[in-house]
Amino acid sequence: DEVGSNWVDVVDGGIDRGLSCIGKSQLLARFARNEFSLDSKATIGVEFQTKTLVIDHKTVKAQIWDTAGQERYRAVTSAYYRGAVGAMLVYDMTKRQSFDHMARWLEELRGHADKNIVIMLIGNKCDLGSLRAVPTEDAQEFAERENLCFMETSALEATNVESAFLTVLTEIY
Ligand code: GTP
Ligand code: MG
Repeated sequence: DEVGSNWVDVVDGGIDRGLSCIGKSQLLARFARNEFSLDSKATIGVEFQTKTLVIDHKTVKAQIWDTAGQERYRAVTSAYYRGAVGAMLVYDMTKRQSFDHMARWLEELRGHADKNIVIMLIGNKCDLGSLRAVPTEDAQEFAERENLCFMETSALEATNVESAFLTVLTEIY
């Protein structure tokens, strides 16, 4: 709620990570540059990275957009759905609420994106196994019902990061 967010804003020095802090930027940093940072800053609006790779003997230059999770940037980020050929919906497996939001994000994505877009569901932070709040089966079930690819990843330990991006890119090309 608004009052709660404002309070967090004040104590956090202006940064309300809210339902952000999922690890989207760190997943991309790991994939594009093999880097990871523990004190990652919240994304403002959108950022992007490119990565050139060979898929099926073809050189592909992927342009990957990293959108802000914070609600206040919603109007900016939704403009980037159109024209996207692939998308990754990322939740934090230690935060149930982030998974419960996936249905809403999916609806929003399907409402704005091309109808042939390849969508992948990602459960990030699988290195924090003892804090798990989302059973693998719940996510698998949701992914099957919605016809999405699904993987659990860790940007910190570089688990499944490459395969997740490659799965999406291979489906596209
Ligand atoms: P917004 O840009 O605000 O939407 O956040 P984000 O989803 O891009 O999150 P970000 O990548 O900035 O990461 C948020 C925090 O989670 C940082 O402290 C990261 O170091 C941490 N983090 C990201 N990925 C992982 C992971 O796989 N494991 C663990 N343990 N921490 C992670
Ligand atoms: Mg970010």
